[in-house]
Amino acid sequence: MNRNDECWCGSGKKYKKCHEAFDERIKEMKFDFMRGQVRPPRKLINNAADIAAVRAAGVVNDGALDLAAGMMRPGVNTESIDDAIADYLTAKGAVSADKGFEGYPKNTCISINDVVCHGIPSKKTILKEGDIVNVDITTKYNGYFADASRMYIVGGHADANAERLVRVSRECMELGIAAAKPWHFLGDIGAACGTHARENGYSVVTDLGGHGVGKGFHMEPFVPHTGQPDTGMLLVPGMILTVEPMINEGTYKVTVDKKDGWTVRTKDKKLSAQWENTILITETGVEILSS
Ligand code: MF3
Ligand code: CO
Ligand code: CO
Repeated sequence: MNRNDECWCGSGKKYKKCHEAFDERIKEMKFDFMRGQVRPPRKLINNAADIAAVRAAGVVNDGALDLAAGMMRPGVNTESIDDAIADYLTAKGAVSADKGFEGYPKNTCISINDVVCHGIPSKKTILKEGDIVNVDITTKYNGYFADASRMYIVGGHADANAERLVRVSRECMELGIAAAKPWHFLGDIGAACGTHARENGYSVVTDLGGHGVGKGFHMEPFVPHTGQPDTGMLLVPGMILTVEPMINEGTYKVTVDKKDGWTVRTKDKKLSAQWENTILITETGVEILSS
């Protein structure tokens, strides 16, 4: 690429004023292939306009999660929550990325107690006092995606062990995010999540993980929530990822419902909890784009 050409990132700026120094820095780095260290492909680097668009999708997504908070009462069926969120997204000029994704039938995932993720909202699934509930929403807005989930406790209180799982799983996500640093490696995130989970006697789901997001819904890289620091893809400014640890009381093993093909449950029927944020890797650390 010529120094006076337009930068490959699509910013419209000259290469020498945009990603030239960035490319030089990557070129000078030594990648340890034994640790699975790889350079990120250029398609994962978002420019300022891309970032602004994901930020805007994140604002809508956060608003939808706020709306769910007000509906976490005993007796409410999860389809009514899904409907309310769909209406909210429509009112904002956005759509659910879930609906129709690989045939997924609803707008959100609502996963209760032993359901790890991908719980399908249904009229027949009725919230009860003390349930721990994950609501996961991915908003598509002006062609860009933001993905986040939160835990809610129906009625405000659950068993002490359930409340502890909800708290620790949130801490796992937060520590994972705090470990994400530009010019360091992806494995740092999972190492931080996994260490905290195990220190608290919990296991980490490995069959599912986080992902790149932004210009697409599920992009590279796969983000593991356990593993070794200093491994995997290099994190660089402009990458957007989710951190979304699924933390289990008992075994890390999960099953997929044979009838609906989606609902993921713990194999031992013990509790599972998950929090998810969409984060941007910046020059100095991270910015949370949806939470
Ligand atoms: N939002 C989920 C994630 O965190 C994906 C849900 S896909 C669906 O990656 F089809 F189940 F909705
Ligand atoms: Co999600
Ligand atoms: Co996600």
